[in-house]
Amino acid sequence: MSLEASDEHALLLRMVQQHLDSLRRAGVDRIPAPPVIPPRTRAIHLRSAPVEVPNEPVLPPPIVAPPPAVVPPIPTATPASSLFGSSGFDTPAPPPSERPALLAELRAEVAQCTRCPHLAATRTQTVFGTGSPTARLFFVGEAPGGDEDRLGEPFVGRAGALLTDMITKGMGLTREEVYIANVLKSRPPENRTPLPDEVGHCLPFLERQIAIIRPQYLCLLGRTAASALLDTALSLARLRGRWHNYRGIPAIVTYHPSYLLRYPEEKKKAWEDLQMLMQAMGLKVPKRPKA
Ligand code: URA
Repeated sequence: MSLEASDEHALLLRMVQQHLDSLRRAGVDRIPAPPVIPPRTRAIHLRSAPVEVPNEPVLPPPIVAPPPAVVPPIPTATPASSLFGSSGFDTPAPPPSERPALLAELRAEVAQCTRCPHLAATRTQTVFGTGSPTARLFFVGEAPGGDEDRLGEPFVGRAGALLTDMITKGMGLTREEVYIANVLKSRPPENRTPLPDEVGHCLPFLERQIAIIRPQYLCLLGRTAASALLDTALSLARLRGRWHNYRGIPAIVTYHPSYLLRYPEEKKKAWEDLQMLMQAMGLKVPKRPKA
């Protein structure tokens, strides 16, 4: 112990002694026991207030596993539009009474379009779309083929006959109560797959059709429609069989009727997709579609 420390100690002892003497003179003959210090701590007295320090290392609080993250499941059975959050459109849905005029205006604009000069030069006419301006369900195909280019209506050739069967015999609806349109409004030469810049030029027309009609459900037929509206490069096999979201509208993806004409063994999967859609729409699902 250093000299300085022993002086301090002596001083402390003298102060305690004096304090005890004064207590005795005041008639105090016992001092209560000091409070019990818990065994894991000891007091060390610094010059100021006593501080308790741990004797043993204090273990960090046990790591408690956080509750499992709640991952919302991909809706598979009956999606309501509300499941997909609020509307992704900039404007409210136009009143049903205004929709025919809005569509007619847009149709006239499409008919004048020359954004793809080569398509504009080779088409017979543009193919805008057909069906109800208040349709609950909107089918989206790829582009007009030869028959559509000639007649000015989507899905009127062989693939169209199959789509009509899917709508009428499969779903129990009519072509008039749904809406049908394509990503491209002009026929690509030789019915080739639309080029990315053609899709880029024409997609705003389709988006405006959807914004006017505000369907409750979308059925995207094939890869061109799916990748254009869902902005995805996934294969059709990865996209079908589950729900997607286009601006708050529940959408399913299924095989294009032209593909089903080439690979009829895939019709079973397309029927499963349509059944999902029908269930969500509250339509009666028959065990198998009418022959
Ligand atoms: N294929 C399409 O994608 N659309 C049509 O209108 C016809 C065939």
